[in-house]
Amino acid sequence: MDTKALLSRTGWLFMLCCLSARAQTPVKQIGNINKVTISGQQINISAENAFAEIIVYSPAVIRVKINQHPLTPDFSYAVVSTPAPTKIQTNQNSSEINIITDSLQLRITKKPFSLHFLTLSGEVINEDETGLTTSWVGNEVTTYKKMQDGERFIGLGEKTGNLDRKGEGYTNWNSDKFGYTANQDPIYATIPFYIGIHHQINYGIFFDNTFQSDFNFGASNNRFSSFGAKGGEMNYYFIYHHRMTDIIASYAQLTGYMPMPPMWSLGYQQNRYSYYPDTEVLRIAQTLREKKIPADGITLDIHYMDAYKLFTWNKERFPDPKQLSSQLDHMGFKLTVIVDPGIKVENGYAAYENGKKEDIFIKYSDGQNYTGQVWPGWCHFPDFTSARGREWWKAQLQSYLRIGVRGIWNDMNEIATWGQKMPSNVLFNYEEHPITHLQAHNIYGLQMARASYEGARDGLQKRPFLLTRAAYAGSQRYSAIWTGDNRAEEDHMLLGVRLLNSLGISGMPFAGMDIGGFTGNPTVSLYARWMQIGAFIPYFRNHTGINTKSSEPWAYGEEVLEITRNYINLRYRLLPYLYSSMYEATHTGMPVMRTLAITNTFDPNVYDTRYQNQYQFGQAFMVAPFESTKEFGPIYFPEGKWYNLYNDSITSGKQEVITPLSLKSLPVYVKAGSIIPMQSQLQSTAEKPTDTLSLHIYKGDTPNTFMYYEDDGETFNNEKGIFYQRIITYSPANKKITLEKVNGAYVSHFRVIRLMLHGFEQLPGIMVNGAPVTVQTKTYSFLAPISRFDPQGFSIPAEQCLIHEATFENTNQAVNVDL
Ligand code: NOJ
Repeated sequence: MDTKALLSRTGWLFMLCCLSARAQTPVKQIGNINKVTISGQQINISAENAFAEIIVYSPAVIRVKINQHPLTPDFSYAVVSTPAPTKIQTNQNSSEINIITDSLQLRITKKPFSLHFLTLSGEVINEDETGLTTSWVGNEVTTYKKMQDGERFIGLGEKTGNLDRKGEGYTNWNSDKFGYTANQDPIYATIPFYIGIHHQINYGIFFDNTFQSDFNFGASNNRFSSFGAKGGEMNYYFIYHHRMTDIIASYAQLTGYMPMPPMWSLGYQQNRYSYYPDTEVLRIAQTLREKKIPADGITLDIHYMDAYKLFTWNKERFPDPKQLSSQLDHMGFKLTVIVDPGIKVENGYAAYENGKKEDIFIKYSDGQNYTGQVWPGWCHFPDFTSARGREWWKAQLQSYLRIGVRGIWNDMNEIATWGQKMPSNVLFNYEEHPITHLQAHNIYGLQMARASYEGARDGLQKRPFLLTRAAYAGSQRYSAIWTGDNRAEEDHMLLGVRLLNSLGISGMPFAGMDIGGFTGNPTVSLYARWMQIGAFIPYFRNHTGINTKSSEPWAYGEEVLEITRNYINLRYRLLPYLYSSMYEATHTGMPVMRTLAITNTFDPNVYDTRYQNQYQFGQAFMVAPFESTKEFGPIYFPEGKWYNLYNDSITSGKQEVITPLSLKSLPVYVKAGSIIPMQSQLQSTAEKPTDTLSLHIYKGDTPNTFMYYEDDGETFNNEKGIFYQRIITYSPANKKITLEKVNGAYVSHFRVIRLMLHGFEQLPGIMVNGAPVTVQTKTYSFLAPISRFDPQGFSIPAEQCLIHEATFENTNQAVNVDL
């Protein structure tokens, strides 16, 4: 063969090789659509390499399912709602299919299959990256979305990093990360829901796939954002509303609402790893009372057990746990105990013997129980994805409930084991449809929390308090969450605030962090600042690790004791407001800790890293947390007018103010127009407040409403309509405050309402239901003075507000107040 012929032959060979490499590309694209069936609210599509189902759940929520294989009926632990009858229009031609609801349109192009969510007037909300769309690499499925100009991304639950997640990538694989760093990923929980924001538009995407999932918000690329998983189907819910609050509400409707927590769980809780023996627990409780630090909860960490064996008690440390819990109860404390899923493999140990007999442990594919090592040594682990496993667990839990335990703290449920590498071939029952560890890992914590919640609910016949470390979307239906083993460092305190804000927009309103830090020891100032912030966090618990210094409020000197007591006191006076805000979360999904992005979505300043830690605590307060070492801090005041909580000075919105900081007070502001119900000072929620409910109203320019809520705080009577619900409206234009007629069958504890009016200069008298009522002008302090423990011994006076006060009887009838 001459050289020319050889060259031409090798050229052909090369071309053939390239062609076949392209034909067998390792990335499988979904390809062109070849068949479409439209039936009611569902569109079934078959494409070159995949099958898809588009299901309209409501005008604002559309579900997208795509699989390489024909789609089969599926199952989700996260989603609790089904498609609602929805009016839609559909049409198609050779190049596209259009689905139009009352809120949005979905254009599906046929060549190739690609989805374009548009507003009714045609603006792009979110669309597939048309070159990449949805594809598979082996079993790993990913959907690529075109990165819109200026697009921001928030949410995704318990993820470290900044509020705006643009430029970052994240993995969901629940992981035990002791002392995680401020940028570490993943940590304990998986909530695959995020909100995208661009061009005055926002939307939500919930990717309901429990395999390890990955989100890319422009990390190492400027072309797309994407979400995908190592297995399973592409399965996401697309949500579009004008307002972010409605997106959050739709996500909550999909994945369920938090139940109303017991009132006591909103009080202050004292913890450490671990308080023992029983006399030490009582000493802590007694000291809290003696030092007049309000508190409601004490928690027992793993040392209460005999050699860390679950459902046992160390008889030397805790000879009579029932008596301990009743002593605590008499002092106004509720007891929470930690539970870990690992059941020690030890002959003669009841839980092990019984679990083995009942056959409720997770297993290898050959039927042998999986064994992993954790605190007690080698353990088996209950299968919470099986009804039998959950029933077994519920029965075991009763031993705690019988002795008066009121809270169950679910720890180590990622599943955490020494070595952190549970094999993939461990099987989980998954409601009689076995799956491997790869699919079950991220839902184990959710299912453990579920079993504990159901067991505690049945056993107590009262609202239990549940806490979990690992979670998946939907965990809010069972449990509060905390952010695990954080560090006693300034940036961790601020990271914690962002984690909680992110959990809030991702459906988990009842959340907290270890106040004071779990690993290491905080400085005196960090401790004080963290406790102040804690008063403005839904789950307010101080916790610290083993071998760290004491972390009770008196452990940091007299001045810090006064500062922390001031804020815990304030927390207790604010409980009617907090309880009403929690109630709001139970039926709208609106979190209590709210990043400013929720109501100022298109204001770029709220994403600025200088201001990203600021948040609202319910609808009234804005908290600006700063490192305790700072003497000045830049605070951004979003739209509106803001009162300084302590002295009522007013700052108008849309500006930054460099603010002097002092350790004695946390920067907190009240939005003009706010309505804040407060009660008298308590030492624990077991005490009754006085019969007067103070209603603080802050003069504003725009009308505002607040849903006041009250019930007995502990039973399930609230589920039977025995609650007290009242809409309170403040209308500046016609100078009126109205309390609507009460809804519900509960009789309010409060007989008297005391209006406390802020910012109303001249107010000689007001009319209540047409009758004149005297108004008194007074000064009021939210905090008590702080003593200075220096040689001169002077005290720092508390700042004061000037208020107008008027009282009237609280009946169930409507009240009209004319100012
Ligand atoms: C790990 C938890 O995150 C921590 O809070 C707890 O104190 C320890 N386990 C010991 O139980």
